[in-house]
Amino acid sequence: MYNILSIILFFLIDTSLIPDRAIAQEGVRIELPKPRTDGGKPLMQVLNRRHSSRQFSPEKLPLQILSDMLWAAWGINRSDAGKRTAPSMGNRQTIDVYIASADGLYLYDAKGNVLKQIHEKDIRAKIGRQSFVQEAPVNLIYVADFSRMGERSEEQKSFLSGADTGYISQNVYLYCASEGLATVVFHSINRPVLEKEMRLRADQKITLVQSVGYNPR
Ligand SMILES: Cc1cc2nc3c(=O)[nH]c(=O)nc-3n(C[C@H](O)[C@H](O)[C@H](O)COP(=O)(O)O)c2cc1C
Repeated sequence: MYNILSIILFFLIDTSLIPDRAIAQEGVRIELPKPRTDGGKPLMQVLNRRHSSRQFSPEKLPLQILSDMLWAAWGINRSDAGKRTAPSMGNRQTIDVYIASADGLYLYDAKGNVLKQIHEKDIRAKIGRQSFVQEAPVNLIYVADFSRMGERSEEQKSFLSGADTGYISQNVYLYCASEGLATVVFHSINRPVLEKEMRLRADQKITLVQSVGYNPR
């Protein structure tokens, strides 16, 4: 009797037996604090300070900073059709922003202002060969969902999703310049490995990655 009970308990408790998809659906959600949508440095000062930096402190970013940065990047700034802080082709909002951190991989949900955990693995070392990606506490992975782009050629989809990503990335650059954070966007990415680690579908394409963190002290 005892043996039968312990076998049943083993199957119930061992989460490695639950398919990955089920874990992702019920996974951890991090509620972000309300983004602070005013303040910051004047635009011309921020443009004057914008630059790429490839040195990061491993110190984690507080949730408030993460929330403010993600809103600046790709948050909703109007009630009108949930339009965003960056333009997108036909307002199709094709780009999803994932966050690769020491605590796992998350997807930014702008509407709910939450981070949805995809899995708990730290995949930063798999992103690319440049060493700073492992040190930066946050790596924003921009993913284009080609299924949201209508009837277009692959070439047009690549071009348009690259353009859409550029606006979001520049918003992050400007936010970082305003807050004194370090950031760099890059294309040198181990795409096949990363797409697998992120469990992306074949029509989800990584466009660029952008590392963000504090400057080393
Ligand atoms: C589309 C794109 C791809 C880039 N790819 C890389 C890259 O793979 N690695 C890297 O270290 N920097 C990369 N960068 C950053 C550029 O090297 C950087 O913007 C450039 O040197 C100018 O420096 P600044 O941003 O400080 O003005 C990329 C920038 C863009 C816009």
